[in-house]
Amino acid sequence: MKSEPRKVLFVCLGNICRSPTAEGVFRRYVQDAGLAEHILIDSAGTGDYHIGDAPDERACVAASRRGYDLSKLRARQVTRDDFERFDYVLAMDEENLRTLKRLAPPEHAHKLKMFTDFSSQHAQYVPDPYAGGPQGFELVLDLVEDAAQGLLRHIQAELGD
Ligand code: 4NP
Repeated sequence: MKSEPRKVLFVCLGNICRSPTAEGVFRRYVQDAGLAEHILIDSAGTGDYHIGDAPDERACVAASRRGYDLSKLRARQVTRDDFERFDYVLAMDEENLRTLKRLAPPEHAHKLKMFTDFSSQHAQYVPDPYAGGPQGFELVLDLVEDAAQGLLRHIQAELGD
C-alpha cells in the first residue's frame, strides 16, 4: 500500500464523551486490521469548556467494559488547521456539523460529514450523553461501533485493501 495515510478527525461538542469514544473504538479497529500506519486518528470538540481534560469518567468506564482504553486522551478544540490536515472531519450531531461548516474554509468543506453517514443501522446522529444516565453512554458505544465498522470498510476500499 503506497498511498498517503488517511487522516480522520472525530468531532463532538466537548471532546470528553462521544468523539474520544469514537477515537478509542476506531483506533482499536484500525489496529486490529493492521492499518495503524495507514489511517491516522484524532478527536476534538467544537467547544472550549473541557480543553486539557481527560474523557468523562462515565465514558471511560463504559468503554473499558468493552475493551477500549480512553484514559490517555485529552480534550482539545477544533482549529482551522484541522480542515487542512484531515481528510475526514466527522461530526457526531447536526449542531457539531453546523459549527464545522461555519469554521471550514470552502475548499475543505467536502471533508465534513456526519459520522453516522457510515452507519449500517441508518442512525441519524450520536446523541449527547453528558446530561443523562449510563444508558446514554452504552447507546453512544453501540452507534460508534457500528459507524466505525462502516468507516473502516469505506477507507479500506479507498486504500485498495
Ligand atoms: P461530548 O459531550 O460533546 O460528547 O463530549 C459533552 C460534554 C460536555 C458538555 C456537553 C456535551 N458540556 O456542556 O460541558
